[in-house]
Amino acid sequence: TAMPQLDTKAPAQKTLPDAQTVTEVRHWTDRLFSFKVTRPASLRFRSGEFVMIGLMGDPDPATGRQKPLLRAYSIASPSWDEELEFYSIKVQDGPLTSRLQHIQPGDQIILRPKPVGTLVHDALLPGKRLWFFSTGTGLAPFASLIRDPQTFEDYDQVILTHTCREVADLEYGRQLVEEVRSDEMLRELIGDGLDKLVYYPTTTREQSPKMGRITGLLKDGTVFADLGIDRIAPETDRAMVCGSLDFNVEIKGLLEDFGLREGANSDPKEYVVEKAFVG
Ligand code: A2P
Repeated sequence: TAMPQLDTKAPAQKTLPDAQTVTEVRHWTDRLFSFKVTRPASLRFRSGEFVMIGLMGDPDPATGRQKPLLRAYSIASPSWDEELEFYSIKVQDGPLTSRLQHIQPGDQIILRPKPVGTLVHDALLPGKRLWFFSTGTGLAPFASLIRDPQTFEDYDQVILTHTCREVADLEYGRQLVEEVRSDEMLRELIGDGLDKLVYYPTTTREQSPKMGRITGLLKDGTVFADLGIDRIAPETDRAMVCGSLDFNVEIKGLLEDFGLREGANSDPKEYVVEKAFVG
């Protein structure tokens, strides 16, 4: 089928507002891909924040005018990186991702350089243990935070949980953790012990070493037993949450039951939540 292709030589592209160039695209499954784009020289952001990105929409049949089609995307790369990375779902009838999934190196996308978001270290009070709870592409902000040295400077232990339907959906995160563990700079902070950075992947619809939703595994205490750690407590634990709406609501309830309170940039507390981009 004919897909509207981005033509970087078309005159319209030259005037694309906030254009950035795609430098790399990786397809993980038929529903997941990641890509990198050039970073505007002036763009500063805090690891965990999101920006609006997208493509030019189709021309309005009446006026012929094109409007940008933008969605919120967590920046998956750390704030020190030269390029910007994003991790996205592919929705076949999604207005943006049905087209975005076809980008290739050299193509341009629109990126509004105004980073915002609540999944930032500033929104949490100091603590000992930091949990990153994610489902699906909700992993993205944690891909940024887990490559930020501050994460390991500020906490004794960092636990990344990622729940997906199938094993292949975990691969981006699995390679990410491997990269972090072998990175020279981060390794110095994490050390060779296995307990400073803990990775806890689970699947719900395909057999894997750990099956089940993280919410259920928290509720029945499996996570704490598996990791040999104390239950979540407001004195020690901080958490960041990013996933589907249902997931966020359920995890919020659990964290509140453990005695944690929701924080914000202007009012840091014990946990923060953000909804993953869905389509
Ligand atoms: P499940 O397969 O049991 O629905 P999705 O691909 O639909 O975004 O889901 C990603 C992962 O998040 C799936 O493994 C899914 O499990 C899980 N999930 C969905 N809703 C919740 C929830 N309320 N609590 C915990 N995990 C959830």
